[in-house]
Amino acid sequence: MRKLTYFIACSIDGFIGDESGDASFMYPFVDEEFFDFLKTEYPETMSTDGRRALGLDDLENQKFDTVIQGRASYDVGLREGMTSPYAHMREYVASRTLKESPDPHVEIVAEDVAAKVRALKAEESGLGIYLCGGSVLAGELLDEVDELVIKTYPVVIGTGMPMFGSGFAVEEFTLDDVRVFKNGVVVRTYSRKR
Ligand SMILES: NC(=O)c1ccc[n+]([C@@H]2O[C@H](COP(=O)([O-])OP(=O)(O)OC[C@H]3O[C@@H](n4cnc5c(N)ncnc54)[C@H](OP(=O)(O)O)[C@@H]3O)[C@@H](O)[C@H]2O)c1
Repeated sequence: MRKLTYFIACSIDGFIGDESGDASFMYPFVDEEFFDFLKTEYPETMSTDGRRALGLDDLENQKFDTVIQGRASYDVGLREGMTSPYAHMREYVASRTLKESPDPHVEIVAEDVAAKVRALKAEESGLGIYLCGGSVLAGELLDEVDELVIKTYPVVIGTGMPMFGSGFAVEEFTLDDVRVFKNGVVVRTYSRKR
């Protein structure tokens, strides 16, 4: 079985964006050292357009070959004309309202997203599945999450969009790795205690 990994950026107090989900206040922390880490270890988590603009289209996928995101997260790129934001992976978008995919490379998952994720996990592959967010989809898929990679930016914002839009539940994870960057960004990797 391969893993579903929620790879997500958040504030110290655990929010992935302001109340609307806007995470642009985090961008200034992507400095040279942190960008180098992303480019080396998680190049596939950068959008296809972003990679192209930086001349990085050729970077090989390191951790993931499949991505799933909620329709609201997909909309962020769609509004900028990106119909296939992660063309270098297989792309799934969870939505009950999108009747037709805006792009032949993007498959819409309208029913039983958890079952779809379990089927993807059962596939033979050396690379995993990137749960891109947002909060609502992560909350719905919490039971399926095997790994968390949390990029914590050194800011407190008081209120905002939570990492998981789900109800109260105590779910245990084991800390596997911590990376600290000079600008105060911390990346923690946790695996699910099953
Ligand atoms: N900080 C970060 O690293 C990060 C990463 C990703 C996203 N974000 C932010 O997160 C925000 C969006 O998050 P969000 O929580 O509002 O929304 P979301 O989880 O991205 O998308 C929610 C939508 O996904 C669909 N969906 C969710 N569960 C489903 C299910 N079980 N079956 C079928 N469809 C399902 C529904 O679409 P329909 O309404 O079409 O049915 C739902 O409205 C964006 O602003 C984005 O910028 C931040």
